[in-house]
Amino acid sequence: MVNEFATISKKDRFDLRGCKTTMKAVVTTGNGGYEKLEYRDVPVPELASGEALLQVLAAGVNNTEINTRLGWYSSSVTTGTESLADAEKEKAKARADGGWNKATPFPFIQGTDCCGRVVAVASGGDESTIGLRVLVRPCIRSSGWKSLENIWMASDFDGAFAQFVKVGAGEIFPVNCDWSDAELGTIPCAYGTAENMIHRAKVSRGEHVLVTGASGGVGSAVVQLAKRRGAAVTAIAGKEKIEQVRSIGADCVVSRDDDIVACVDENSVDVVVDNVAGPAFGGMLKVLKRGGRYASSGAIGGPLVTLDMRDFYLKDLMMIGCTAWDKPVFPNLVSYIENGEIRPLLAKTFPLERIVEAQRAFTEKKHVGKFVLIPPPLDSSQQAFPDQSLAIDA
Ligand SMILES: NC(=O)c1ccc[n+]([C@@H]2O[C@H](COP(=O)([O-])OP(=O)(O)OC[C@H]3O[C@@H](n4cnc5c(N)ncnc54)[C@H](OP(=O)(O)O)[C@@H]3O)[C@@H](O)[C@H]2O)c1
Repeated sequence: MVNEFATISKKDRFDLRGCKTTMKAVVTTGNGGYEKLEYRDVPVPELASGEALLQVLAAGVNNTEINTRLGWYSSSVTTGTESLADAEKEKAKARADGGWNKATPFPFIQGTDCCGRVVAVASGGDESTIGLRVLVRPCIRSSGWKSLENIWMASDFDGAFAQFVKVGAGEIFPVNCDWSDAELGTIPCAYGTAENMIHRAKVSRGEHVLVTGASGGVGSAVVQLAKRRGAAVTAIAGKEKIEQVRSIGADCVVSRDDDIVACVDENSVDVVVDNVAGPAFGGMLKVLKRGGRYASSGAIGGPLVTLDMRDFYLKDLMMIGCTAWDKPVFPNLVSYIENGEIRPLLAKTFPLERIVEAQRAFTEKKHVGKFVLIPPPLDSSQQAFPDQSLAIDA
Protein backbone atom coordinates (compact mmCIF):
# COMPACT_ATOMS: atom_id res chain seq x y z
CA MET A 1 0.00 0.00 0.00
CA VAL A 2 1.28 3.48 -0.86
CA ASN A 3 2.14 5.58 2.17
CA GLU A 4 0.31 8.77 1.31
CA PHE A 5 2.01 10.66 4.10
CA ALA A 6 5.23 10.65 2.16
CA THR A 7 3.73 12.72 -0.64
CA ILE A 8 0.94 14.83 0.82
CA SER A 9 1.60 17.56 3.34
CA LYS A 10 0.13 16.63 6.71
CA LYS A 11 -1.43 20.05 7.07
CA ASP A 12 -3.38 19.68 3.83
CA ARG A 13 -4.73 16.20 4.37
CA PHE A 14 -7.74 17.23 6.44
CA ASP A 15 -8.26 20.64 4.82
CA LEU A 16 -11.93 20.95 3.85
CA ARG A 17 -11.44 23.61 1.17
CA GLY A 18 -12.55 22.33 -2.22
CA CYS A 19 -13.63 19.04 -0.76
CA LYS A 20 -16.76 17.47 -2.30
CA THR A 21 -17.89 15.19 0.50
CA THR A 22 -17.05 15.34 4.16
CA MET A 23 -17.26 12.77 6.92
CA LYS A 24 -17.09 12.69 10.69
CA ALA A 25 -13.82 11.34 12.04
CA VAL A 26 -11.70 11.34 15.15
CA VAL A 27 -8.38 12.95 14.29
CA THR A 28 -5.51 12.21 16.65
CA THR A 29 -3.39 15.33 16.57
CA GLY A 30 -0.25 14.22 18.41
CA ASN A 31 1.26 12.43 21.40
CA GLY A 32 -0.62 13.26 24.56
CA GLY A 33 -3.83 12.82 26.53
CA TYR A 34 -7.48 12.72 25.49
CA GLU A 35 -7.28 16.35 24.36
CA LYS A 36 -5.44 15.03 21.30
CA LEU A 37 -8.62 13.30 20.05
CA GLU A 38 -10.64 15.71 17.88
CA TYR A 39 -14.07 14.66 16.58
CA ARG A 40 -14.56 16.76 13.46
CA ASP A 41 -15.37 16.98 9.74
CA VAL A 42 -12.67 15.85 7.34
CA PRO A 43 -12.72 15.03 3.62
CA VAL A 44 -13.87 11.57 2.58
CA PRO A 45 -10.66 9.80 1.45
CA GLU A 46 -9.91 9.75 -2.26
CA LEU A 47 -9.08 6.39 -3.74
CA ALA A 48 -5.77 5.54 -5.34
CA SER A 49 -5.31 2.61 -7.68
CA GLY A 50 -5.98 -0.75 -6.02
CA GLU A 51 -7.98 0.71 -3.14
CA ALA A 52 -11.55 0.31 -1.91
CA LEU A 53 -13.68 2.77 0.02
CA LEU A 54 -15.66 1.39 2.95
CA GLN A 55 -18.42 2.85 5.03
CA VAL A 56 -17.30 2.02 8.57
CA LEU A 57 -20.07 0.16 10.39
CA ALA A 58 -18.19 -0.62 13.60
CA ALA A 59 -14.65 -0.07 14.89
CA GLY A 60 -13.21 -1.85 17.93
CA VAL A 61 -11.15 -0.14 20.60
CA ASN A 62 -7.60 -1.43 21.10
CA ASN A 63 -4.61 -0.67 23.29
CA THR A 64 -2.53 0.17 20.27
CA GLU A 65 -4.54 3.35 19.63
CA ILE A 66 -3.86 4.46 23.20
CA ASN A 67 -0.25 3.28 23.11
CA THR A 68 0.33 5.24 19.91
CA ARG A 69 -1.30 8.40 21.24
CA LEU A 70 0.77 8.16 24.42
CA GLY A 71 3.95 7.30 22.51
CA TRP A 72 4.22 4.12 24.62
CA TYR A 73 6.31 2.27 22.04
CA SER A 74 9.21 4.63 22.72
CA SER A 75 12.14 2.89 24.39
CA SER A 76 12.10 5.78 26.88
CA VAL A 77 8.86 4.33 28.32
CA THR A 78 9.48 1.53 30.79
CA THR A 79 6.03 1.03 32.36
CA GLY A 80 2.82 -0.68 31.22
CA THR A 81 0.19 1.31 29.30
CA GLU A 82 -1.96 1.72 32.41
CA SER A 83 0.73 3.42 34.45
CA LEU A 84 1.63 5.69 31.57
CA ALA A 85 -2.01 6.66 31.02
CA ASP A 86 -2.28 7.56 34.69
CA ALA A 87 0.79 9.75 34.63
CA GLU A 88 -0.64 13.15 33.78
CA LYS A 89 2.83 14.62 33.52
CA GLU A 90 3.54 12.38 30.58
CA LYS A 91 0.60 13.75 28.62
CA ALA A 92 2.17 16.43 26.52
CA LYS A 93 5.40 14.66 25.58
CA ALA A 94 5.99 14.21 21.88
CA ARG A 95 8.07 11.11 21.24
CA ALA A 96 9.82 10.79 17.91
CA ASP A 97 10.07 7.03 18.42
CA GLY A 98 6.64 6.66 20.08
CA GLY A 99 5.00 4.77 17.18
CA TRP A 100 5.14 0.98 17.01
CA ASN A 101 7.43 1.03 14.00
CA LYS A 102 8.76 4.54 13.67
CA ALA A 103 7.40 8.07 14.04
CA THR A 104 3.60 8.28 13.97
CA PRO A 105 2.18 10.34 11.08
CA PHE A 106 0.20 12.84 13.17
CA PRO A 107 -2.36 14.23 12.55
CA PHE A 108 -4.10 11.07 11.45
CA ILE A 109 -7.13 8.86 12.04
CA GLN A 110 -6.76 5.82 14.29
CA GLY A 111 -9.00 2.74 14.46
CA THR A 112 -7.39 -0.65 13.81
CA ASP A 113 -10.58 -2.71 13.72
CA CYS A 114 -13.02 -2.21 10.89
CA CYS A 115 -16.24 -3.92 10.02
CA GLY A 116 -17.42 -2.02 6.97
CA ARG A 117 -19.44 -2.07 3.79
CA VAL A 118 -17.71 -1.55 0.45
CA VAL A 119 -19.11 1.57 -1.22
CA ALA A 120 -16.58 2.13 -4.01
CA VAL A 121 -13.56 0.61 -5.67
CA ALA A 122 -10.89 2.38 -7.68
CA SER A 123 -11.13 2.06 -11.41
CA GLY A 124 -10.20 -1.44 -12.52
CA GLY A 125 -11.02 -2.90 -9.10
CA ASP A 126 -13.41 -5.74 -8.35
CA GLU A 127 -16.84 -4.12 -8.56
CA SER A 128 -18.54 -7.29 -7.36
CA THR A 129 -17.35 -6.42 -3.83
CA ILE A 130 -19.45 -3.23 -3.75
CA GLY A 131 -22.20 -3.59 -1.18
CA LEU A 132 -20.55 -6.48 0.68
CA ARG A 133 -20.02 -6.43 4.45
CA VAL A 134 -16.34 -7.02 5.09
CA LEU A 135 -13.63 -7.14 7.72
CA VAL A 136 -10.36 -5.35 7.06
CA ARG A 137 -7.04 -7.08 7.71
CA PRO A 138 -5.16 -4.28 9.47
CA CYS A 139 -1.68 -5.85 9.32
CA ILE A 140 -0.27 -5.51 5.81
CA ARG A 141 2.84 -7.38 4.70
CA SER A 142 4.10 -4.44 2.71
CA SER A 143 7.04 -6.22 1.03
CA GLY A 144 5.27 -9.51 0.33
CA TRP A 145 4.83 -12.67 2.40
CA LYS A 146 8.51 -13.64 2.31
CA SER A 147 9.50 -10.51 4.21
CA LEU A 148 8.44 -9.72 7.76
CA GLU A 149 8.09 -6.02 6.91
CA ASN A 150 4.59 -4.91 7.86
CA ILE A 151 2.54 -1.77 8.20
CA TRP A 152 -0.69 -1.29 10.13
CA MET A 153 -3.91 0.48 9.42
CA ALA A 154 -4.36 3.20 12.04
CA SER A 155 -0.68 3.29 12.93
CA ASP A 156 0.94 3.89 9.57
CA PHE A 157 -2.04 5.19 7.59
CA ASP A 158 -5.59 6.34 8.40
CA GLY A 159 -7.91 3.90 10.12
CA ALA A 160 -11.54 3.32 10.98
CA PHE A 161 -12.45 5.93 13.60
CA ALA A 162 -14.46 7.67 10.88
CA GLN A 163 -17.53 7.22 8.71
CA PHE A 164 -15.38 6.07 5.79
CA VAL A 165 -11.96 4.49 5.40
CA LYS A 166 -9.97 3.54 2.32
CA VAL A 167 -7.89 0.37 2.27
CA GLY A 168 -6.05 -1.81 -0.21
CA ALA A 169 -8.66 -3.98 -1.91
CA GLY A 170 -6.58 -7.07 -1.10
CA GLU A 171 -7.08 -6.43 2.62
CA ILE A 172 -10.89 -6.71 2.61
CA PHE A 173 -12.57 -10.01 3.45
CA PRO A 174 -16.32 -10.49 2.92
CA VAL A 175 -17.95 -12.26 5.87
CA ASN A 176 -21.23 -14.16 5.67
CA CYS A 177 -22.69 -14.61 9.13
CA ASP A 178 -25.49 -13.42 11.36
CA TRP A 179 -23.25 -11.49 13.75
CA SER A 180 -24.03 -7.81 14.25
CA ASP A 181 -21.68 -5.16 12.85
CA ALA A 182 -20.46 -4.43 16.37
CA GLU A 183 -19.74 -8.10 17.01
CA LEU A 184 -17.69 -8.28 13.81
CA GLY A 185 -15.94 -5.09 14.90
CA THR A 186 -14.46 -6.98 17.88
CA ILE A 187 -12.50 -9.32 15.66
CA PRO A 188 -9.64 -8.04 13.48
CA CYS A 189 -6.84 -6.86 15.76
CA ALA A 190 -7.42 -9.05 18.83
CA TYR A 191 -8.36 -12.29 17.09
CA GLY A 192 -5.87 -11.82 14.27
CA THR A 193 -3.09 -11.27 16.79
CA ALA A 194 -4.23 -14.26 18.86
CA GLU A 195 -4.53 -16.61 15.87
CA ASN A 196 -1.15 -15.47 14.58
CA MET A 197 0.55 -16.42 17.86
CA ILE A 198 -1.23 -19.78 17.98
CA HIS A 199 -0.32 -20.43 14.35
CA ARG A 200 3.35 -19.45 14.84
CA ALA A 201 3.62 -21.49 18.06
CA LYS A 202 2.04 -24.45 16.23
CA VAL A 203 -0.45 -25.17 19.00
CA SER A 204 -1.86 -28.63 18.45
CA ARG A 205 -4.44 -31.05 19.86
CA GLY A 206 -3.75 -32.27 23.38
CA GLU A 207 -1.17 -29.60 24.20
CA HIS A 208 -1.36 -27.52 27.36
CA VAL A 209 -1.57 -23.79 26.65
CA LEU A 210 -1.24 -21.08 29.30
CA VAL A 211 -2.66 -17.66 28.38
CA THR A 212 -2.25 -14.42 30.33
CA GLY A 213 -4.62 -11.44 30.24
CA ALA A 214 -7.38 -13.89 29.37
CA SER A 215 -10.22 -11.47 30.05
CA GLY A 216 -8.85 -9.05 27.45
CA GLY A 217 -9.33 -8.83 23.72
CA VAL A 218 -6.31 -10.91 22.70
CA GLY A 219 -6.35 -13.25 25.70
CA SER A 220 -10.04 -14.16 25.39
CA ALA A 221 -9.46 -14.83 21.70
CA VAL A 222 -6.48 -17.07 22.52
CA VAL A 223 -8.66 -19.09 24.90
CA GLN A 224 -11.20 -19.75 22.15
CA LEU A 225 -8.71 -20.29 19.36
CA ALA A 226 -6.52 -22.67 21.36
CA LYS A 227 -9.59 -24.68 22.42
CA ARG A 228 -10.63 -24.76 18.78
CA ARG A 229 -7.34 -26.54 18.03
CA GLY A 230 -8.01 -29.09 20.76
CA ALA A 231 -5.58 -27.75 23.37
CA ALA A 232 -6.19 -27.74 27.13
CA VAL A 233 -6.19 -24.13 28.27
CA THR A 234 -5.14 -22.63 31.59
CA ALA A 235 -6.00 -18.94 31.73
CA ILE A 236 -4.82 -16.14 34.00
CA ALA A 237 -7.27 -13.35 34.76
CA GLY A 238 -8.27 -10.79 37.36
CA LYS A 239 -9.98 -12.43 40.36
CA GLU A 240 -13.36 -10.85 39.65
CA LYS A 241 -13.34 -12.06 36.02
CA ILE A 242 -12.53 -15.71 36.67
CA GLU A 243 -16.03 -17.07 36.11
CA GLN A 244 -16.50 -15.12 32.88
CA VAL A 245 -13.19 -16.41 31.54
CA ARG A 246 -14.19 -19.95 32.46
CA SER A 247 -17.41 -19.46 30.47
CA ILE A 248 -15.35 -18.62 27.36
CA GLY A 249 -13.99 -22.16 27.53
CA ALA A 250 -10.85 -22.14 29.67
CA ASP A 251 -10.35 -25.48 31.43
CA CYS A 252 -8.72 -23.86 34.44
CA VAL A 253 -8.51 -20.19 35.47
CA VAL A 254 -5.87 -18.82 37.85
CA SER A 255 -6.09 -15.40 39.47
CA ARG A 256 -3.43 -12.99 38.28
CA ASP A 257 -2.70 -12.21 41.95
CA ASP A 258 -1.58 -15.78 42.58
CA ASP A 259 1.92 -17.15 42.05
CA ILE A 260 1.63 -19.03 38.77
CA VAL A 261 4.35 -21.52 39.72
CA ALA A 262 2.39 -22.44 42.84
CA CYS A 263 -0.84 -22.94 40.84
CA VAL A 264 0.47 -24.65 37.70
CA ASP A 265 3.11 -27.34 37.97
CA GLU A 266 6.60 -26.49 36.82
CA ASN A 267 7.45 -28.04 33.45
CA SER A 268 3.80 -28.74 32.63
CA VAL A 269 2.95 -26.26 29.86
CA ASP A 270 3.68 -26.69 26.15
CA VAL A 271 2.92 -23.15 25.01
CA VAL A 272 2.64 -19.86 26.90
CA VAL A 273 0.84 -17.06 25.08
CA ASP A 274 1.69 -13.95 27.06
CA ASN A 275 0.67 -10.40 26.13
CA VAL A 276 0.99 -9.19 29.73
CA ALA A 277 4.72 -9.81 30.48
CA GLY A 278 5.86 -7.53 33.36
CA PRO A 279 6.79 -8.98 36.77
CA ALA A 280 5.12 -12.37 36.16
CA PHE A 281 7.32 -13.15 33.15
CA GLY A 282 9.87 -15.30 35.01
CA GLY A 283 7.17 -17.70 36.20
CA MET A 284 6.01 -18.24 32.62
CA LEU A 285 9.34 -19.80 31.74
CA LYS A 286 9.36 -21.94 34.90
CA VAL A 287 6.05 -23.62 34.03
CA LEU A 288 7.07 -24.33 30.44
CA LYS A 289 8.15 -27.88 29.65
CA ARG A 290 11.54 -28.64 28.17
CA GLY A 291 11.29 -27.58 24.52
CA GLY A 292 8.26 -25.37 25.28
CA ARG A 293 7.31 -22.31 23.26
CA TYR A 294 6.70 -18.80 24.61
CA ALA A 295 4.81 -16.48 22.22
CA SER A 296 4.12 -12.80 22.78
CA SER A 297 2.86 -9.79 20.90
CA GLY A 298 2.37 -7.39 23.77
CA ALA A 299 3.47 -6.33 27.23
CA ILE A 300 0.58 -4.55 28.90
CA GLY A 301 1.90 -5.39 32.36
CA GLY A 302 5.33 -3.89 31.61
CA PRO A 303 7.77 -4.17 28.70
CA LEU A 304 10.90 -4.70 30.79
CA VAL A 305 11.17 -8.17 32.32
CA THR A 306 13.71 -10.21 34.25
CA LEU A 307 14.90 -13.19 32.24
CA ASP A 308 16.79 -16.00 33.92
CA MET A 309 18.81 -17.20 30.96
CA ARG A 310 19.18 -20.61 32.58
CA ASP A 311 15.44 -21.24 32.29
CA PHE A 312 15.68 -20.30 28.64
CA TYR A 313 18.65 -22.30 27.42
CA LEU A 314 18.76 -25.23 29.83
CA LYS A 315 15.19 -26.13 28.86
CA ASP A 316 15.67 -25.53 25.13
CA LEU A 317 12.81 -23.02 25.12
CA MET A 318 11.73 -21.20 22.00
CA MET A 319 10.66 -17.55 22.21
CA ILE A 320 8.45 -16.35 19.41
CA GLY A 321 7.92 -12.63 18.91
CA CYS A 322 4.80 -11.96 16.86
CA THR A 323 3.63 -8.81 15.15
CA ALA A 324 3.60 -9.49 11.39
CA TRP A 325 0.63 -11.73 10.59
CA ASP A 326 1.21 -14.80 8.48
CA LYS A 327 -0.77 -15.34 5.30
CA PRO A 328 -3.30 -17.98 6.44
CA VAL A 329 -4.23 -16.16 9.64
CA PHE A 330 -6.94 -13.76 8.52
CA PRO A 331 -8.68 -15.95 5.93
CA ASN A 332 -8.75 -18.73 8.54
CA LEU A 333 -10.32 -16.42 11.10
CA VAL A 334 -13.07 -15.47 8.68
CA SER A 335 -13.76 -19.16 8.05
CA TYR A 336 -13.98 -19.81 11.81
CA ILE A 337 -16.60 -17.05 12.06
CA GLU A 338 -18.57 -18.36 9.11
CA ASN A 339 -18.43 -21.92 10.46
CA GLY A 340 -19.56 -20.84 13.94
CA GLU A 341 -16.31 -22.02 15.57
CA ILE A 342 -15.68 -18.84 17.58
CA ARG A 343 -17.90 -16.23 19.13
CA PRO A 344 -17.56 -12.51 19.73
CA LEU A 345 -17.22 -11.05 23.22
CA LEU A 346 -18.80 -7.63 22.85
CA ALA A 347 -18.67 -5.82 26.20
CA LYS A 348 -20.20 -2.50 25.12
CA THR A 349 -20.71 -0.13 22.19
CA PHE A 350 -20.25 3.65 22.19
CA PRO A 351 -21.05 6.26 19.51
CA LEU A 352 -17.82 7.29 17.76
CA GLU A 353 -18.04 10.80 19.14
CA ARG A 354 -17.84 9.38 22.68
CA ILE A 355 -14.40 7.90 22.06
CA VAL A 356 -12.90 9.52 25.14
CA GLU A 357 -15.50 7.90 27.37
CA ALA A 358 -14.86 4.56 25.63
CA GLN A 359 -11.08 4.78 26.01
CA ARG A 360 -11.35 5.83 29.67
CA ALA A 361 -13.58 2.83 30.43
CA PHE A 362 -11.28 0.60 28.37
CA THR A 363 -8.21 1.57 30.39
CA GLU A 364 -10.05 0.78 33.65
CA LYS A 365 -10.04 -2.90 32.55
CA LYS A 366 -13.21 -3.79 34.43
CA HIS A 367 -14.74 -5.39 31.34
CA VAL A 368 -14.32 -8.75 29.64
CA GLY A 369 -13.92 -8.76 25.85
CA LYS A 370 -14.10 -5.72 23.60
CA PHE A 371 -15.50 -2.20 23.33
CA VAL A 372 -16.68 -1.04 19.90
CA LEU A 373 -17.31 2.44 18.46
CA ILE A 374 -20.19 3.05 16.06
CA PRO A 375 -19.89 5.96 13.58
CA PRO A 376 -22.99 8.12 12.94
CA PRO A 377 -25.34 7.11 10.09
CA LEU A 378 -24.66 8.69 6.71
CA ASP A 379 -26.49 11.88 5.73
CA SER A 380 -28.06 12.41 2.31
CA SER A 381 -24.89 13.76 0.63
CA GLN A 382 -22.91 10.78 1.87
CA GLN A 383 -25.64 8.33 0.89
CA ALA A 384 -24.88 9.17 -2.74
CA PHE A 385 -21.70 7.14 -2.57
CA PRO A 386 -23.11 3.69 -3.13
CA ASP A 387 -24.99 4.84 -6.26
CA GLN A 388 -22.25 6.78 -7.97
CA SER A 389 -19.47 4.42 -7.14
CA LEU A 390 -19.25 1.47 -9.45
CA ALA A 391 -15.77 2.66 -10.22
CA ILE A 392 -14.00 5.77 -9.06
CA ASP A 393 -11.19 6.90 -11.34
CA ALA A 394 -7.98 6.60 -9.41
N1 LIG B 1 1.77 -6.65 18.45
C1 LIG B 1 0.52 -6.53 18.07
O1 LIG B 1 0.25 -6.52 16.88
C2 LIG B 1 -0.59 -6.44 19.09
C3 LIG B 1 -1.92 -6.61 18.70
C4 LIG B 1 -2.91 -6.59 19.68
C5 LIG B 1 -2.59 -6.33 21.00
N2 LIG B 1 -1.29 -6.11 21.34
C6 LIG B 1 -0.93 -5.83 22.73
O2 LIG B 1 -1.31 -6.95 23.54
C7 LIG B 1 -1.66 -6.49 24.84
C8 LIG B 1 -3.03 -7.04 25.19
O3 LIG B 1 -3.98 -6.54 24.28
P1 LIG B 1 -5.52 -6.72 24.51
O4 LIG B 1 -6.20 -6.12 23.36
O5 LIG B 1 -5.82 -8.11 24.86
O6 LIG B 1 -5.72 -5.84 25.81
P2 LIG B 1 -6.95 -5.73 26.80
O7 LIG B 1 -8.21 -6.06 26.12
O8 LIG B 1 -6.79 -4.44 27.47
O9 LIG B 1 -6.65 -6.90 27.84
C9 LIG B 1 -5.45 -6.97 28.57
C10 LIG B 1 -5.73 -7.72 29.86
O10 LIG B 1 -4.49 -7.94 30.51
C11 LIG B 1 -4.74 -8.10 31.90
N3 LIG B 1 -3.68 -7.46 32.65
C12 LIG B 1 -2.80 -8.10 33.43
N4 LIG B 1 -1.93 -7.26 33.96
C13 LIG B 1 -2.26 -6.04 33.53
C14 LIG B 1 -1.72 -4.76 33.75
N5 LIG B 1 -0.67 -4.55 34.54
N6 LIG B 1 -2.31 -3.72 33.14
C15 LIG B 1 -3.37 -3.91 32.35
N7 LIG B 1 -3.93 -5.11 32.09
C16 LIG B 1 -3.37 -6.17 32.68
C17 LIG B 1 -6.13 -7.51 32.17
O11 LIG B 1 -6.97 -8.59 32.48
P3 LIG B 1 -7.28 -9.04 33.97
O12 LIG B 1 -7.80 -7.83 34.65
O13 LIG B 1 -8.26 -10.13 33.80
O14 LIG B 1 -5.97 -9.51 34.51
C18 LIG B 1 -6.57 -6.93 30.84
O15 LIG B 1 -7.94 -7.14 30.63
C19 LIG B 1 -1.58 -4.98 24.80
O16 LIG B 1 -0.33 -4.59 25.31
C20 LIG B 1 -1.65 -4.65 23.33
O17 LIG B 1 -1.05 -3.43 23.01
C21 LIG B 1 -0.30 -6.17 20.41
